[in-house]
Amino acid sequence: MKILSVVGARPQFVKAAVVSRTLRSTSGVSEVLLHTGQHYDANMSQVFFDELHIPRPDYNLGIGGGSHAQNTGRMLEAIEAVLFDEKPDWVLVYGDTDSTLAGALAAVKIHVPVAHVEAGLRSFNRRMPEEINRVLTDHAADLLFAPTETAVANLRREGVPDERIALVGDVMYDAALFYASMAEERSSILETLGLNPREYILATVHRAENTDSPARLKAIFTALSQVAETMPVVLPLHPRTRKALAANNLWELAQGVRLIDPVGYLDMVMLEKNAALIVTDSGGVQKEAFFHQVPCVTLRTETEWVELVGAGWNVLAPPFSHEEVYKKILESVGRSGLDLPLYGDGRAAQKIVARLLSAPARPD
Ligand code: UD1
Ligand code: UDP
Repeated sequence: MKILSVVGARPQFVKAAVVSRTLRSTSGVSEVLLHTGQHYDANMSQVFFDELHIPRPDYNLGIGGGSHAQNTGRMLEAIEAVLFDEKPDWVLVYGDTDSTLAGALAAVKIHVPVAHVEAGLRSFNRRMPEEINRVLTDHAADLLFAPTETAVANLRREGVPDERIALVGDVMYDAALFYASMAEERSSILETLGLNPREYILATVHRAENTDSPARLKAIFTALSQVAETMPVVLPLHPRTRKALAANNLWELAQGVRLIDPVGYLDMVMLEKNAALIVTDSGGVQKEAFFHQVPCVTLRTETEWVELVGAGWNVLAPPFSHEEVYKKILESVGRSGLDLPLYGDGRAAQKIVARLLSAPARPD
């Protein structure tokens, strides 16, 4: 069985790392890896391939840096050409980026079955590009690998038949378990930055709804700078946010925060697990906070990972006023939640590969 996996953005490298390894250690399975090029800086892409031992992509389309339509359109055309050459049995797509939608759409139109990892997530906020990408991908795909019960319920409510849905758990949890000891052994980020465990806050900001709104960006960085007067705030800066801060003359304001370049996954794990609190608008980082039992404040009006709020680990802080964000951050240091098995048993990748192998053969 030949599987063609499509990746392109940072969180997809982390997800694909565990699935690719499992695919390649399963007899009778071969994988072709396609990188769209959506993320292209060395610290947003290559570092993950090197550290996590992800195989070198068979194809790198070099398509990134454009608008949604430019990226998606160019990817669609280029992925289709690869599919005609490779003739895979399945296309595997991850998450909710423009690369996900392009991979799913290119394949389904020429009758190559599509499997979607991290299916069924919903924010119910249709202004998010990710929400559009997820809904369209889920409804184009043949097999939907849901990470949570909530995701399964979302798919059922939208009329997706049960035989297309598989609850497998979350591949990011697999990754957190698999790379935990490697991070301890190889990362010296705390020493490099002079940080003591539980004496700093880790923050990340990149969501379009925050970076593209000067008011929200200002509220977030004002609050973080105020917090930083009493506790260091370390923030690996996404290139999108770097550009937005500069474009909105907020660069000076942000200097209260300890801005660093994006870090590799192993350094990120160490920064996460030793933080007193994580403040983020990232989907993956919200879950990783929970995996490492660190409280989290999410800089959004809603989250797809509702079970984290229910379990008490995550609190939403809509970034409309810096006072509100500041208050939520201060209240959250030292908070904890319920220790529940929310994301499976760490064997999501094995379940995904087993289900792909047992799927009916592709009709001619
Ligand atoms: C994308 C995903 C988002 C995901 C995020 C993970 C979409 C619509 N969004 O958002 O769901 O949470 O990745 O990080 O697919 N840039 C660089 N260097 C890079 C990558 C990006 O400079 O290596 C800059 C470019 O100016 C680019 C901008 O960041 O135009 C945005 O990149 P893009 O991939 O379009 O979206 P993200 O905001 O990264
Ligand atoms: N991450 C990383 N270095 C960073 C920031 C994030 O390795 O500087 C990892 C993080 O641990 C998680 C993934 O990237 O595994 C999440 O990606 P991101 O926040 O960009 O996207 P999202 O999950 O919001 O789609």
